[in-house]
Amino acid sequence: MLFSVLITTTLSVLAPPVYADSASVSERDWLWVAIIILLLLQSLLIIGMQRSRLKLKHARQALFKSQKELEAKVHDRTETLHNTNEQLYQEIGRHEATELLLRETQEYLHSIINSMPSVIIGVTHRGFITHWNAAATEKTGINSADALSKHLKDVYPSLPVDGDIISDTIEAGIPYTSQNIQETYAGEMHYSDLTIYPLIAVQAIGAVIRIDDVTMRVRVENMMIQNEKMLSLGELAAGMAHEINNPLSTILHGVQNIYRRISPSLTANIEAAQNHSISLDNLLAYMDERKISQFLEDIREAGERSADIVTNMLDFSRSSGQSQRPFDLSHVIRHGVELLAAERTQLPDIRMVLDHTVPQIMGSAAEIQQVLLNLVRNAAQAIGEEFDQTDWIKITLSQNDLDAILEVEDSGPGMAEEVARHIFEPFFTTKDIGQGTGLGLSVSYFIVTEHHGGSIEVSSNPGEGTRFTVRLPKQSSSTASPSPPPLLH
Ligand SMILES: Nc1ncnc2c1ncn2[C@@H]1O[C@H](COP(=O)(O)OP(=O)(O)OP(=O)(O)O)[C@@H](O)[C@H]1O
Ligand SMILES: [Mg+2]
Repeated sequence: MLFSVLITTTLSVLAPPVYADSASVSERDWLWVAIIILLLLQSLLIIGMQRSRLKLKHARQALFKSQKELEAKVHDRTETLHNTNEQLYQEIGRHEATELLLRETQEYLHSIINSMPSVIIGVTHRGFITHWNAAATEKTGINSADALSKHLKDVYPSLPVDGDIISDTIEAGIPYTSQNIQETYAGEMHYSDLTIYPLIAVQAIGAVIRIDDVTMRVRVENMMIQNEKMLSLGELAAGMAHEINNPLSTILHGVQNIYRRISPSLTANIEAAQNHSISLDNLLAYMDERKISQFLEDIREAGERSADIVTNMLDFSRSSGQSQRPFDLSHVIRHGVELLAAERTQLPDIRMVLDHTVPQIMGSAAEIQQVLLNLVRNAAQAIGEEFDQTDWIKITLSQNDLDAILEVEDSGPGMAEEVARHIFEPFFTTKDIGQGTGLGLSVSYFIVTEHHGGSIEVSSNPGEGTRFTVRLPKQSSSTASPSPPPLLH
C-alpha cells in the first residue's frame, strides 16, 4: 500500500508540468526525485527491518515452544527413568533375598544330606558324580572336591553299579535295589543295601545312589537263623546222643569185658580155661594170629570215638558241663597252643599277639580252650600237611569296651561263601569220611553263644585265608545251668 502511494507520488513528480520553464523545473525535480528515492529507500529499509523483526519474533516463539516441549519431554523421561530405576532397585532387592534364601536352602539341604548316615551320591545319566556326601567321604576316604565331576567307576570302582544300570533305572523310572552287597574293608566283611533312585527334572536327568551299611542287621539275622537252626539241631543231636548212648555203652562195656575175660591175670579166667582144657596163652596166640585182638581193638577205638562224638553232641543241650569261674584268656591261649604243639609234631608258624590287659572272663576255661583248639586245628588242617615258611596261624587277643576279642586267622586256602554259610551246622564237614565229624565248629558255636553269651563269626574268601572272630563279653551274661550227669563212665 505504502509502496503504491510512493510510486504514484514519484510518477507524479516526474511527469513534466506544462506551464513551467525547463531549467528551474529540472533542478527542483531532481531534488524531489532524490528525496523521494531516499524516502523510498528508507521505507524499504523500514519494511525490511520490520519483516526481520517479525521473523525473529516468530523464530523466538518457535524456539521457546520447542524448548518447553523439550523440557517437558526431558521431565517425562526423567520421571520414567526414575520409576524404572525404582523398580529395578526393588527387583534387585527381591533377587538378593531370593538368592539368600536359595543359598540358605542349599546349605540346609547340604547339611541334611551330609548328616545322613547313608552314603548319598548324585550322578548324571552317564554316571558322572554331581553330589558326594560326608558319609561317602568317610566310606571311601575320597573327599567331595576330588570326587565331583569324575566318573563313578573311577572314584568308587568296588560299587557294583555301572552306566547301564543307571541309565536303565532312569529310563524305567523305577528305583533299583540290591541287597546284602559284600565288601571287604578295614579287613572286615561288610554288607550294604544299595538303592538307585531315578531323578528326572526339567534341566537335568540323573540318579541318586543311596548305600546303607547293613552289616549289623545281616549279622543279627545270620545269628538268629543260626540260633534257630542250632536250637532245633541241638535238640535233635541231644536226643540222638541219648539214644545212641545206651547201645554204645553196651558195646564198650562188652569189649572191656572181653578183654577182662581173656586176661591171664584173673584166676577165674584160668580156672574156666582149665575146665575146658584150654590154655589162655594159646587162646591169645590164636586170637592174635586170626587178628581177633586187632578186631577187638578196632571195635574199642571206634566205640570210644563214637563216645567222643556223643559227648560233643550232648554239648548241644543248653546246659553247660563246666563250672563258671573267672579265667585268664591269654593263659588259656598259651596253654592251648602248648597242648597243640605236644599233639602235633609239625605245625605252621603260630604267631600270638596277646593284649595282657584284657580282664578275666567269667565262664569255663576248659570250654574256651576247646573252642581255641577247634579253631587252631581247623586252621592247621586247612593249611595242610605240606606247609612252608610262608604259612602261618595268627592268634590275637584284644578288647573293646564291651568284649574280649579272640581271633584265629590263617594263611590257608579260605573257603567259598557256600561253604562258609554252613560251617557252624552240626555234621557239616568238607573233610574225608573218618577225617572230621563236622562237629568242631558247631560245638564251639554253642559254647561261645549259649554258654558265654558271646558271638563267633567267620570272614573268609577263597584264596585269601580265613579269620574266626570270637567275642566274649567282659561282663559275662552266661545262662549256664548245671551239667547233665556223665553218661559213659
Ligand atoms: N580255617 C579254615 N579254613 C578253611 N575251612 C575251614 C576252616 N575252619 C573250618 N573250615 C571248614 O568248616 C568245616 C567244618 O568245620 P568243623 O570244625 O565244624 O568240622 P571239621 O573240622 O570238618 O570236623 P572236626 O572238627 O570234627 O574234625 C570244615 O570241614 C572246613 O570245610
Ligand atoms: Mg574241626
